[in-house]
Amino acid sequence: MLVTKQKVLRKFWYALMPISMLEDGPKPFTLLGENIVVWLKADGKPAALQDRCCHRTARLSKGFVENGNIVCGYHGWTFDCSGACVRVPQNADGAVPAGAMVPSYYCEERYGYVWVALEKPLRDIPFFPEETTPGYRRIFQFYERWDTSALRMMENSFDNSHFSYVHRATFGLYDQPKPEKYEINETDYGFEAETLVPIKNVPASFRVTGTTDDTTMRHMFNRWYLPFARRFGCTYPASGRHHIIYNCATPIDDGSIMLAQWLYRNDTEEDCPEAELIAWDAPILVEDREILEATDPDACIDVRRKQEFHMASDKPGLIMRKMLLQLLEEHGESEVFRRQD
Ligand code: FES
Ligand code: CO
Repeated sequence: MLVTKQKVLRKFWYALMPISMLEDGPKPFTLLGENIVVWLKADGKPAALQDRCCHRTARLSKGFVENGNIVCGYHGWTFDCSGACVRVPQNADGAVPAGAMVPSYYCEERYGYVWVALEKPLRDIPFFPEETTPGYRRIFQFYERWDTSALRMMENSFDNSHFSYVHRATFGLYDQPKPEKYEINETDYGFEAETLVPIKNVPASFRVTGTTDDTTMRHMFNRWYLPFARRFGCTYPASGRHHIIYNCATPIDDGSIMLAQWLYRNDTEEDCPEAELIAWDAPILVEDREILEATDPDACIDVRRKQEFHMASDKPGLIMRKMLLQLLEEHGESEVFRRQD
C-alpha cells in the first residue's frame, strides 16, 4: 500500500512533533507526501497550512510568526490560521488581492504534541487515558525518522515471533522461538490484544515474583488504533507499576515515518529516573529500526495478491491489513501499490 495514494488516510489525525519544537518559530513537516508548516498562534495553540506561499511559492516555514500569524520570509505576505492572506506589506493599507490564500489543515495540541489531519477527520485523536489519570507521569521517550512504512512498524509492534531473533541480544529468548498466543478483540477503533511474553535479563525492580532471575513473564495489554497508532501496556505485578507506551507512526511519505513514543508510568523520578527508562528502551528500538528499514515499505494489505507468506503469529498484522483494506473499500478505493515485475 502506498500511503500517499490512499486518499482516505488524509482523514485521520497524526502526531507531527512535540509542541515545544514550535517555541522558536514555525517548523516544516511532510505528512503523507504533503508539505506543511506548523506554528503557534497568539493563544499558544498550533496551526497548520500548506508550506507554500501563494505569491511566489516560497516555503512559509522559512518565515516567522508575528501577532500569531505566519509571515512569508520572501516578501512578507502574512497569513492567518485559516490560510487567508491578511496583509501584503507592499500595498497601501496592506491590501490583499481577492482570493489570496493557502490551504489549511485541521490542527490540535494533545499529549504535548501537535496533531494534524489533512481533511475532516473520521475519528478522534486516539485517547490516552493515563494523560489525565492522577498518579501517572508522562515521558517523551522518542521522536525519530525511520525509513520504513507505518504499517510495517505497527505490525512489528504486535509480532510475538520476532523477539527471539531481532531482540536476541536484549530481551529475546533465542532458544524459545515459539511465540505465546495473542487474544485479540476487534473494536470500533481497531483492536485490543492481550498476550504473555517471556523476556530475559530484566532489572530486579521489573521482576515478577516466582520467576527465575533470567526470565520474566510479561503480561501485555495492547491496542491498535486504525490506522497507525498503538498502545503497549505492561504491568509489573510485584511492584504494581504500569509501563504504558503509545506510539504514533506518522507517515511522511511511502517509505518513511516519524515515530513518536510516549511513556506513562505510575511511579516517580525517585523510583526510576527518566534517563534510565529511556536508556532501557533505546537499544530495543534500534534493533527494530534496523530490521524494519531492511524490509520493503510497500506492505501488501490485499492478501489476495499473495505477495507475502504468513504464519499464525502474523494474525495481528493480518487483521490490520484486513481493516485497512475495508476502510479503503468503504471509501471507494482499492490498494495502490508498486508493481513487482
Ligand atoms: Fe511569499 Fe513572496 S513568496 S511573499
Ligand atoms: Co521489536
